[in-house]
Amino acid sequence: MSTENIDLRKQLQQHVQSLRGAGVEWAPLRPPLESAQPSRTAAQPVATTPAEVISPVSLLAAADAGTVLTLEERRQALKVLAEKVSKCTQCAALASTRTQTVFAQGPAGAELCFVGEAPGADEDAQGFPFVGAAGQLLTKIIVGCGLKREDVYICNILKCRPPGNRAPLPNEAANCRGFLERQLELVQPKFIVALGASAASNLLNTTQPLGKLRGRFHDYKGIPVMVTYHPAYLLPHRAPEKKRDVWEDMKMLLTKMGKPIPQKQA
Ligand code: URA
Repeated sequence: MSTENIDLRKQLQQHVQSLRGAGVEWAPLRPPLESAQPSRTAAQPVATTPAEVISPVSLLAAADAGTVLTLEERRQALKVLAEKVSKCTQCAALASTRTQTVFAQGPAGAELCFVGEAPGADEDAQGFPFVGAAGQLLTKIIVGCGLKREDVYICNILKCRPPGNRAPLPNEAANCRGFLERQLELVQPKFIVALGASAASNLLNTTQPLGKLRGRFHDYKGIPVMVTYHPAYLLPHRAPEKKRDVWEDMKMLLTKMGKPIPQKQA
């Protein structure tokens, strides 16, 4: 293949991958490029049958058959996905009450990803996950583990705030599931922490209570998942004594990650 064709092929793959990032999985099959048919002139349009024009091409397969996405391509695809999420109106009620969608915070390629439930009032106002009281506690947990908040990826099951901070409804979680799956596929974390029962049951597709899910690793598409209490549950007016259990969970995670366990400050 000539260098020019290799470049073209790469460009096409990147285009397909960014479309895929935006959730597009099908496109009409186009006739061959004009340049591939030197004997034809502009006055002689490419003869196509309706079948050629409407035949669906699986962009998914096309992208998979091509290259593995580079980190930069995954970053770009996440941007496109966030843009698509910002326009989502699948849950009409949530779309009408949200200030904005809350996609995520953190880098593509982060080793560790935290998955929460849904944005609250602060997140809805600021557009970032876990920025309210529970978020401040989450930051303390991350730092307590010897990690930096800016190095981890943080997202939620739902990208819109449920009014009154109620739990996500099953149809809302189902509507948002594709976004979460694509997000995790692009970030490619090595480890995931599900924060709270709602995140755990949605992510792991289980009805088991949180108490039964803690203390061992679960699997999400080959990625080990640790389940722990939601930081909002650890706030002073709820169950601050459970912070001890979260620390036990995080120590298990750090061991699995091959990271040192920091000494707990008194
Ligand atoms: N609770 C969550 O589950 N997610 C947030 O982003 C904030 C609070």
